[in-house]
Amino acid sequence: MTDVLTPVLSANWGDERAWKIANYERRGGYRALRKALAQPAADVLGTVKDSGLRGRGGAGFPTGMKWSFVPKDNPNPKYLVVNADESEPGTCKDMPLLMASPHTLVEGVIISSYAIGCRYAFIYVRGEVLHVIRRLQQAVREAYSAGYIGKNILGSGYDLEVVVHAGAGAYICGEETALLDSLEGRRGQPRLRPPFPAVAGLYACPTVINNVESISSVPAIIDHGAAWFQSMGTEKSKGFTIYSLSGHVVRPGQFEAPLGVTLRELLELAGGVRNGHRLKFWTPGGSSTPILTGDDLDLPLDYEGMAGAGTMLGTKALQIFDETVSVVRTTLRWVEFYKHESCGKCTPCREGSWWLVQLLKKFEAGEAVEGDVDKLLDICTSIGGRSFCALADGAVACVTSAVKHFREEFEQGYGTPAWELFPYEKSALFTPRTPPAEYPERDSNPGDGAAEPVHEGGLA
Ligand SMILES: Cc1cc2nc3c(=O)[nH]c(=O)nc-3n(C[C@H](O)[C@H](O)[C@H](O)COP(=O)(O)O)c2cc1C
Ligand code: SF4
Repeated sequence: MTDVLTPVLSANWGDERAWKIANYERRGGYRALRKALAQPAADVLGTVKDSGLRGRGGAGFPTGMKWSFVPKDNPNPKYLVVNADESEPGTCKDMPLLMASPHTLVEGVIISSYAIGCRYAFIYVRGEVLHVIRRLQQAVREAYSAGYIGKNILGSGYDLEVVVHAGAGAYICGEETALLDSLEGRRGQPRLRPPFPAVAGLYACPTVINNVESISSVPAIIDHGAAWFQSMGTEKSKGFTIYSLSGHVVRPGQFEAPLGVTLRELLELAGGVRNGHRLKFWTPGGSSTPILTGDDLDLPLDYEGMAGAGTMLGTKALQIFDETVSVVRTTLRWVEFYKHESCGKCTPCREGSWWLVQLLKKFEAGEAVEGDVDKLLDICTSIGGRSFCALADGAVACVTSAVKHFREEFEQGYGTPAWELFPYEKSALFTPRTPPAEYPERDSNPGDGAAEPVHEGGLA
């Protein structure tokens, strides 16, 4: 078996009550903070820049470079905002990290705030994850009590306040400018850029917004140095990261490995595709990233490798689908999500995602007609690149890539329902049970008489 794991962020996840400050400190926690505070802030920023760390929230923008965009001469307060909204279908790395080891993020927040000269930091957490919010709040309280947050931190003269803010459960609030509007108390909708948040973000002040995993990587970089981080990964994608495997794998979960590892290696660690089945398609980084197939097992899972294959690394949420899954049905489920989460600000996304759902339902029901595949692609052309924010691009990426790889399966929707070609109970991960009477059957799934499996997290 391959041995490619590099547990750094996840190294303490198996420890007894790893989320308590004393247990985190026992492992060397807050050592990096002491080291950082003993240096000029510019040196801390320089180390993060030199490390080559790139944002783990999806786009892969260099973190140190983003920090350096904050204008030094701006007299307004500077803010750090951590994006913990994690709502992309398939994405499930930030929440496990926050549950297992919230102090990794808290320490990262303090060091990062120090580096950019910020005295107020916000952690914006997805509203539905009450258990994560409570754990994070507890960790912040512990850090205040230990003197790591507050006035004159560890006698350094540096002051910082940290606020944990719960969102209200909207995917669009993960988009950084919509997040800022939401944090300011408004309805979360993306802002026009420029100005970029680094110049005019929260309350029109210079603001750095980073993903949970990006900020959580900072303590280890400060502790071990930029060269150590650079020694892992590939030429332009440095360091380690958390890959989340879900779906039809024997052992789904989080796998922390250097950037550039392949799906073949990760699948080997995860016990492979479930017994007796083969890989049909997969997402490299959540449902917004164009799907790949079983031919792409040996591609390096880094920013360049995925771009070269016409997709994106995204959030490294590897959703695995075996041959029992209808690609038409999966695409419909994803687009239903985007339709529901479209914030409504711009017409192509608001109306187009609705039309995509109507058409995809026809494919699923076997009621599509000759020419509907091209109509589907045509609607996608009217949405992608013509909308206000990247939510819309994600909504069409799953459709266009599914048609690219499985056009014939869509064409079978000219007459044959997807549930006849791919009976859903075959792809279900859990034993189907009869839905209670008060749950109406989905109108898009009359099924073949068998009850639709009702469970969280299934793929069918
Ligand atoms: C619709 C949408 C949802 C997003 N959701 C998240 C999210 O939940 N978490 C996140 O870190 N970034 C999310 N992003 C990306 C953020 O806008 C932003 O790029 C990121 O937080 C920057 O952090 P990073 O540089 O550390 O990756 C989303 C983007 C879009 C368009
Ligand atoms: S693309 Fe969609 S989510 Fe983004 S601003 Fe337009 S309507 Fe809102």
